[in-house]
Amino acid sequence: MVDLPGSPRAETVVDLDAVRHNIDVLRAAASGAGVMAVVKADGYGHGAVAVARAALDAGAAWLGVCTLEEAMDLRDAGITAPLLSWLHLPDDDFAEAVTAGVDLSVSSRRHFAGVLAGARRAGRPVRLHLKVDTGLSRNGAQPTEWADLLDDAAKAATDGAVEVVAVWSHLAHADAPHHPTIDKQAARLTAAWQEAKDRGLAPIRHLANSAATLTRPDLHFDLVRPGIAIYGLDPLDRQPGESPLRPAMTLRSRVALVKRVPAGEGVSYGHEWTTPRETTLALLPIGYADGVPRRLGRDGRMRVLLAGVLRPVVGRVCMDQVMVDCGDDQVREGELAVLFGPGDHGEPTAQDWADELGTIHYEIVTGLHGRRVTRTVSGGGGTC
Ligand SMILES: Cc1ncc(COP(=O)(O)O)c(C=O)c1O
Repeated sequence: MVDLPGSPRAETVVDLDAVRHNIDVLRAAASGAGVMAVVKADGYGHGAVAVARAALDAGAAWLGVCTLEEAMDLRDAGITAPLLSWLHLPDDDFAEAVTAGVDLSVSSRRHFAGVLAGARRAGRPVRLHLKVDTGLSRNGAQPTEWADLLDDAAKAATDGAVEVVAVWSHLAHADAPHHPTIDKQAARLTAAWQEAKDRGLAPIRHLANSAATLTRPDLHFDLVRPGIAIYGLDPLDRQPGESPLRPAMTLRSRVALVKRVPAGEGVSYGHEWTTPRETTLALLPIGYADGVPRRLGRDGRMRVLLAGVLRPVVGRVCMDQVMVDCGDDQVREGELAVLFGPGDHGEPTAQDWADELGTIHYEIVTGLHGRRVTRTVSGGGGTC
């Protein structure tokens, strides 16, 4: 990895060409259904605005976010594409989002009343996606409330206050494509959608996240909602070499200090590692406050790619720094170390980190949002 004088002490580099490639893969898999690029949580830690632009430029038709604030950030950046926001409090102020043409999801009659009040204040109709709980037991209307919610929506649609754009839901076991709950959830969604049509509404249907987009063509319906796959992280946990997706994020840091340390010296807090021989240690100024999980340092399981070699992080991961054992190799201050990346050069991947930690790669990339980690974007941007 080349030395880049002046590059940040710690940075994520986001490859927008990878994002565009992944949208191509997802569009091909979606076989005609529209693609909603899910860019919540600041684009899963990759930068929502940059990813949204690249995704739209590559052919995504919609954007999806969790909160009203996330939706308004995209609108404020000048992005005018169809945009759905789906997790709110019933007493949120929806007027600004309605004015900005944000589609809103509702999960109960109480939420519906709040959104309708926002539409009235905004003085224009609101585009609604009615979410039905088909078995995840999280967000979404209970089946017992569905008929009443549809009655409310149909009446407001007749009054011209709302447009019912979609009926939708979310899967509990999408990463296990043959799990029996999937068919059950799909059937419940279709029944709920049919009930809406029986009231004279004409909504589209959407259900599939990344995993279902790639594995269950029968569930694509009108629109798919991939998130993690846009960022190149495989929802079926295939390693980058086996997956059609390309990881978009690289996490790297520059060596702040190089020192020779004699044999028998304890390294980092608690002296969990002691130099077995005289050795060269390289200090990377990145730690758990930046999103490097402290547990990753246990038992010498963390490795970084530094000066072309995969090297162990030794001793505890601290708040601001980690130490790398370089043996007798020459390593220079200012040199770049790759903590994780696509894996093309032998560096660890976000999937490797997740496996070590017993978690999922979603948690790794969304955890790197500290103010001290600079985000750099590479590759082609969008024109939207
Ligand atoms: C409602 C909803 N749809 C779609 C997605 C995208 O899921 P994935 O990142 O697994 O593709 C999410 C993410 O959690 C979600 O909450």
